[in-house]
Amino acid sequence: MAADKIYPPSPEFVAQAHVSGMDAYQELFEEAKADPEAFWGRMAQERIDWFKPWDKVLDASNAPFYKWFTGAKTNMAYNCIDRHVKTWRKNKAAIIWEGEPGDQQILTYQELSRRVQRFANILLKLGYKTGDRAIIYMPMVPELPIAMLACARLGITHSVVFGGFSSEALKMRIQDLEAGIVITADGGYRRGRTVRLKDAVDEALVDCPSVTNVIVYRRTGEKVEMQAGRDHDWEDLITDMPETCPAVELDAEHPLYVLYTSGTTGKPKGIVHTTGGYQVQLASSMKWVFDLKDEDTYWCAADVGWVTGHSYIVYGPLLAGTTSVMYEGAPDYPEPDRFWRICAKYSVNVFYTSPTAIRAFIKFGEHFPNRHDLSSLRLLGSVGEPINPAAWEWYHKVIGHERCPIVDTWWQTETGSIMISALPGATPLKPGSATFPLPGVLADVVDMDGNSVPKGSEGYLIVRGPWPSMFRTLQGDPDRFVKTYWSQLDGCYFVGDAARRDEDGYIWVLGRVDDVMNVSGHRMSTAELESSLVRHESVAEAAVIGAPDELTGQAVIAFVTLKSTYEPSDELAATLRDWVGHEIGKFARPKQIRFSEGLPKTRSGKIMRRLLREIVTQDKVTGDVTTLEDLSVLNRLSTTSGED
Ligand code: PRX
Repeated sequence: MAADKIYPPSPEFVAQAHVSGMDAYQELFEEAKADPEAFWGRMAQERIDWFKPWDKVLDASNAPFYKWFTGAKTNMAYNCIDRHVKTWRKNKAAIIWEGEPGDQQILTYQELSRRVQRFANILLKLGYKTGDRAIIYMPMVPELPIAMLACARLGITHSVVFGGFSSEALKMRIQDLEAGIVITADGGYRRGRTVRLKDAVDEALVDCPSVTNVIVYRRTGEKVEMQAGRDHDWEDLITDMPETCPAVELDAEHPLYVLYTSGTTGKPKGIVHTTGGYQVQLASSMKWVFDLKDEDTYWCAADVGWVTGHSYIVYGPLLAGTTSVMYEGAPDYPEPDRFWRICAKYSVNVFYTSPTAIRAFIKFGEHFPNRHDLSSLRLLGSVGEPINPAAWEWYHKVIGHERCPIVDTWWQTETGSIMISALPGATPLKPGSATFPLPGVLADVVDMDGNSVPKGSEGYLIVRGPWPSMFRTLQGDPDRFVKTYWSQLDGCYFVGDAARRDEDGYIWVLGRVDDVMNVSGHRMSTAELESSLVRHESVAEAAVIGAPDELTGQAVIAFVTLKSTYEPSDELAATLRDWVGHEIGKFARPKQIRFSEGLPKTRSGKIMRRLLREIVTQDKVTGDVTTLEDLSVLNRLSTTSGED
């Protein structure tokens, strides 16, 4: 079986790796386990600059509200830029950017430094300061990391909203954060078309009194409304701005950003990340997992709007002083070889993407990567969802030419940095397994009582105790933070994923155990989609499930019961799909709407999603045909069944 094949690292890779061989990994792991505070203190000293050292590495006095590097002063933008500018790296490319239409910019650390400081001066001039909150809603242009870094420089907590989110989703985030400013663009490019962003901002701001300023970067040049007094052109503001703006000395626990992600309720959760510990663990993971050398060109082909982009396009690579590639558009535009064209053009050495993207490339065909010289690649990564062994093998053979190790990295928005992953110069790889926890991460697979499962068994994935890049709370909802994550098992973080530990101790992450779906590596909540559907005038009730999908991992299937005055039709199904697109974002539109006259429920009224999942998986479903389900059998069943 392909899944049982083992790929040890090549002697050449081991010889040049930062962590060479399993003994070296074990040594680091044991050092961290024996004395986590001493270990992370050492990492903090080696990898990060501090304006003032810490009093304590870890303050667990108010667990689970852990604090790291208390008393220390630091600044993320300083560590990402200023300290590199003081060295030979000043003229090294920090960001190599390519726009979808083919335009290009290369920003050295010095140039990035100038642009960030000038933009930070705009924020100061408009009256923003440490402790304020900014929303960033931009396409994948260099001005996006520039805005993030300018906020970080001043201690303005940012929340980046993925450009695919609708105005409704944007509004919820602005309101929840009570942000004072929105940094946006007229639009961006996607598959040859423009995506208008400023319009969505205007719609959202009707209900957002906290926002007093909007900065608009002109990317597409399309005409947008500008509200006098509130809206400003990026270019107009930047013209006279000085190029120096000192980095504020911030507490290690100062909130760097809030990133909203889906949970099990209808309302997204604001994941709060702070500065000091996040920097330390992020910088460590860059070195261990991506084995970065100063001469490497690294490309994480994600979107900055998700946590992968925050940690591994912007902050991680810049902390490490790396050259990071950033690409604005779609992987298949103008042709499905765009990614490989970019890899060849910039001689990318380390490439990081998602299993969904890999599966799409398999479908496009090998001739697209084969058109290009991919010999610069030396390491490949995967993130966001379990990678099926077949996709892994293809990635290894067709992209990595059987030369590049693949690091399958497991982590979450909440964890801030990679938690479980192979180290490429150490770990023998098994396709489909994220392998072992990183040093300092005490991940385990346990049963309902918290006992580690024996080898060869499945259970819940947990992390025993805190880690430096962990999220600190949920924005405005500390009780939910404690209840959702830290209450199932004493002192342990409850991940929400199931996992298997195999006979060799390898961890295989299997997927979510809660009502959260993973569609194309994007986390989605059944409850959020259901509440969106029932807000439509035609819908009486809705149940959403994630069905297995060859391409996207899971696909959203919505069972909908209409109000009696409405009739099921293909048109109504299309309307409802668009409705969800409008309420959340196009990427969240259900693949299928299935009308049904009722939904199977337990006696207490809970929808039995398990049964719906069975209907979908056993009854072959193709395309997005609208079918009328007869669930009467299930409804009868539900009166005799127990709780779901
Ligand atoms: O179910 C796991 C899955 O993605 C979830 C986290 O989603 P999000 O916070 O959006 O972050 C995605 C990018 C880090 C996890 O609970 N997941 C992520 N990486 C993997 C994975 N599942 C299996 N293998 C992975 N490598």
